[in-house]
Amino acid sequence: MDAQLKHDYLEGMSRAATFVAVATTDGLRGRFGVTVSSMTSVSTEGDYPSLLICVHYLSLAAPAMLANRGFCLNLLNEEQSGVANLFAGREGDHPSARFDAVDWVPGPNGHPMIDGAVANFECQMATELWWKTHHVIVGEVTSVRLSEDSRPLLYGGRSYHRAVKLED
Ligand SMILES: Cc1cc2nc3c(=O)[nH]c(=O)nc-3n(C[C@H](O)[C@H](O)[C@H](O)COP(=O)(O)O)c2cc1C
Repeated sequence: MDAQLKHDYLEGMSRAATFVAVATTDGLRGRFGVTVSSMTSVSTEGDYPSLLICVHYLSLAAPAMLANRGFCLNLLNEEQSGVANLFAGREGDHPSARFDAVDWVPGPNGHPMIDGAVANFECQMATELWWKTHHVIVGEVTSVRLSEDSRPLLYGGRSYHRAVKLED
């Protein structure tokens, strides 16, 4: 790939503001979680709404989500940048120890719902595409838990932000 193209692509994408979520999974393959900003809502047609995430193939959470046939997407609150860093491995922990550092409860299908998240979307695996370095994973949302506080954590310009409403 042309180095200038790659540089400009990464710089351009750094200017996008995204949500920050932690995708968690539990089941026969074990309990794992990884921070993602690649969440996209896909559709509300059919029996269940669906969403997608892109997870790097080297993340231990990716094969676990595929083998466990599901995951929970925990959309983080603006106070939870520490949780985002924890599940991005920035605290130098062991993946299984991440769950000792946060409060969580199992969702109806057993995937960890992190307390304090603005929304928890529990998903069953729908389909997956392996594209170069990432698994593009589509989940069907079987349950949603909403918190009282709806202020989301944002990521853009290579740092965390909170959303501020513009004047009308
Ligand atoms: C704000 C933020 C967003 C991220 N988004 C993604 C993402 O969408 N997909 C992904 O594979 N990794 C993403 N990462 C990196 C992973 O969280 C993690 O650092 C990396 O995959 C190593 O995972 P592991 O320690 O679970 O193996 C993000 C990290 C941060 C801090």
